[in-house]
Amino acid sequence: MSGDGWIRQVSPYIGQEEADAVRRVVESGWITEGPESAAFVEELKEYVGARYAVLAPNGTLALALGLLALGIGSGDEVLVPDTTFVGSASAVLLTGARPVFVDVEPTTFQIDLADAERRTTSATRAVMPVHLYGTACDMAAVSAFADRKGIQVIEDAAQGMGVRFGDQHVGTFGDVGCFSFFADKTITTGEGGFVTCRDEKTYERLRLLRNQGRMNSGTFIHPSVGFNLRITDMQAALGRVQLRKLSTIVERKQELHAAYRKALSGIHGVRILGAAEGANLVPFRCVILVDDAAALMKHLTSCQIEPRSFFYPLHLQPAFASLRDPDGSDRDFANAVAGYERGICLPIHNSLTFDDVSRIAGVIRDHQELSQGA
Ligand SMILES: Cc1ncc(COP(=O)(O)O)c(C=O)c1O
Repeated sequence: MSGDGWIRQVSPYIGQEEADAVRRVVESGWITEGPESAAFVEELKEYVGARYAVLAPNGTLALALGLLALGIGSGDEVLVPDTTFVGSASAVLLTGARPVFVDVEPTTFQIDLADAERRTTSATRAVMPVHLYGTACDMAAVSAFADRKGIQVIEDAAQGMGVRFGDQHVGTFGDVGCFSFFADKTITTGEGGFVTCRDEKTYERLRLLRNQGRMNSGTFIHPSVGFNLRITDMQAALGRVQLRKLSTIVERKQELHAAYRKALSGIHGVRILGAAEGANLVPFRCVILVDDAAALMKHLTSCQIEPRSFFYPLHLQPAFASLRDPDGSDRDFANAVAGYERGICLPIHNSLTFDDVSRIAGVIRDHQELSQGA
């Protein structure tokens, strides 16, 4: 609980160690990408088991950078699940390509490959599995699908630090994998991200694209067109401390999730989302499904508990109205819509206590009993 009596949705786990690390960088006088960034990317690579990687300013730009490095652009289509954060699709638009929305699985809410198959056209160049809410897509199935279609895989692992499919970390299966270090992510640098890849050519393109079309700074001769998609050593220093805390953060999130599971068990009409088959769970949020998410969210808020809705289906986003098919043939996204109507994200962060979990479960129990009796 925070000082004002509210249980907040998000609370980054940062403290004195992070402050000291940032101060050391400021005092060193070298604040742009330098030794801390170089060390951070090496440590990240080792943690996730990636061959190559670069840092990026945030998860959305990590995705755009990854797509551009794969040669995706105008005239191309990328398959994106309908249930995800808007940034998964806006990154595709940033490259000039078109996101094609795909329904999700009814129980896991990860991309539905049968629907992806139906929506594949001759312009499809890539599929973007999004590892949602702290567990993983079936990457064996995604890889087989992409191989069969001859398309590339860009993993959106923005929420996926610590998440594995089998014994392999998410974000290392595809042609590229993209992560976010926004303040609500498992580890944070405030804003930040990184992109992994498997082959040297893609790595070279990632480096050129993120640093004004040159491999290294310090020259004004630019062999190709690139952008400034670098970060700062202050963020990297903060991220290195966070990475050292990752196993503690993961353990705590998993303990809190187990506490939620126990406290919510037996409450009428409540299902808690767990790990997908073959994957572990590092809960990004504690997701529950109820009959009427809007009513329960209203009740939680009235009890000073901050819920979040499930992701709003991308095909319904006002921002993407121009992508809709005029004849409506692209509007069958029953599972994404059901997820939005039924899903609620409960807080799960390192400032949350077991007492908070009991309080939240109690509020949910009261609401469900009342609504059942009504
Ligand atoms: C699934 C997913 N993709 C992409 C992003 C974008 O990351 P960022 O906010 O760092 O741009 C997010 C962030 O919440 C996300 O959850």
